[in-house]
Amino acid sequence: MAETLEVAFTVNRRPVRLRVGSDRRLLDVLREDLRLTGAKEGCGKGECGACTVLVDGAPVDSCLMMACQADGAVLDTIEGLADGDRLHPLQDAFVEEGGVQCGICIPGMVLAGKALLDREPRPDAAAIREGLAGNLCRCTGYTKIFAAVARAAGQRARPAPVPAAESARPSSHRPLSLEAALELLSMHAGEVRPLAGGTDILVRAQDGRQSRAALLDLTAVPELKGIEERGSDLWIGAGVTHSELMRSALAARYAPALPEACAVIGGPQIRNRGTLGGNLANASPAADTVPALYAAEAVVELVSVSDRRQVPIDKFFTGPGQSVLARDELILAVRVPRRPGVRGAFLRLGQRRAQAISKVSVAVAMTFKDGRPDWARVALGAVAPTVIRAPRAEAALLAGGYEGLRGAREAVRAEVSPIDDLRSTREYRREMAGLLLERAVRRLAEA
Ligand SMILES: Cc1cc2nc3c(=O)[nH]c(=O)nc-3n(C[C@H](O)[C@H](O)[C@H](O)COP(=O)(O)OP(=O)(O)OC[C@H]3O[C@@H](n4cnc5c(N)ncnc54)[C@H](O)[C@@H]3O)c2cc1C
Ligand code: FES
Ligand code: FES
Repeated sequence: MAETLEVAFTVNRRPVRLRVGSDRRLLDVLREDLRLTGAKEGCGKGECGACTVLVDGAPVDSCLMMACQADGAVLDTIEGLADGDRLHPLQDAFVEEGGVQCGICIPGMVLAGKALLDREPRPDAAAIREGLAGNLCRCTGYTKIFAAVARAAGQRARPAPVPAAESARPSSHRPLSLEAALELLSMHAGEVRPLAGGTDILVRAQDGRQSRAALLDLTAVPELKGIEERGSDLWIGAGVTHSELMRSALAARYAPALPEACAVIGGPQIRNRGTLGGNLANASPAADTVPALYAAEAVVELVSVSDRRQVPIDKFFTGPGQSVLARDELILAVRVPRRPGVRGAFLRLGQRRAQAISKVSVAVAMTFKDGRPDWARVALGAVAPTVIRAPRAEAALLAGGYEGLRGAREAVRAEVSPIDDLRSTREYRREMAGLLLERAVRRLAEA
């Protein structure tokens, strides 16, 4: 049953402290309790971006964030953008370009545009498209919307002072240490489920397959954060988001396919919340970080109140949606051996570029000695019940040159066992697996 929790945050530069049900989403509290109705509920599942707000400056789908997860955060909604009677330059630009056709999608578009321009004041056309890839306009007014963002580029609004956000620390649902999280999980094993970015589990809750009241938020646990060199490994905390990974120089050096995979997950709002640990625990054969982790020979660190264990990535998954993770265990981190000079690439095929599940994905990692390949790893997603390695393709690649590439492409076609489903046929997936492998190896070799 839902409890009542105290939470505190800053909304539009105003400190707010209120009591909320533990099962309430940020979107509900903004709209119903604070009467900030600019954020809209379109899909309720992270697909349309109509509920976008800024959390600590980053665009987030407020339908996929629990209210208690905003404790201590600085929030901006569309209502706080204008400076008194003066519109924000981006709002002016939307008016000037005729980018506003409805009141449903535009608040989210403007906020996603603001986050982009705050981070990258002069984005090119591709960056504008990418920055707004998590926002749908159902009347397809994209040309004017993109023009509005381009028009506002370089015009900075007067920054208003932001008071430091308070925190009410609702620690029964939002533990502040790994020890506290593990104890709560062990006490309520089977009753509560870990919650990280919420981009999978809150979609399940929206479909009625998961109670929102029975979630244990991990996003304030510091031990799950960080990307660092530890001994001979690169250590990546389970709570690291896809956005953090795609910008990490260490991940690019030691697991180069991984940031490339993170960069194509969902749209900006999904990448700002979705975590590596959530992607693994979900155990989807189409999860995009997983082929990159297979290619990097990653090891998953699991922890419970009484035990710690390390599981090689290819032993972690037991089937679609299934893994060796026990109900009282958390994924603490992923370790990747630091291999000097490793190169890598990730490519995938989806229905469209953003917000789409992979039909086929390929990750490759290779090292070279005197210009010839001396180590190769190939992993494929969405072509078998779990992500798979392709050892015959790896062996073929070691031959080097065009022969190696042709051999690997043929080998991979034989190594995959895709299925027919709504998204693709078996034969198409098989062909595409070979083609993507060839393209990935060419890209990696030219890098
Ligand atoms: C619109 C949309 C687009 C998407 N696009 C993609 C895509 O392109 N590619 C892709 O791979 N995925 C995609 N996803 C799926 C999702 O974003 C990712 O799987 C994401 O990495 C999940 O992480 P999370 O932190 O949000 O997990 P959550 O939803 O918080 O949790 C997911 C599962 O992991 C468990 N969990 C979370 N952290 C831990 C931990 N540390 N230890 C143990 N268990 C844990 C939870 O209990 C839950 O069962 C998409 C989702 C949406 C809604
Ligand atoms: S309502 Fe569609 S993404 Fe939140
Ligand atoms: S302007 Fe809102 S759906 Fe197109």
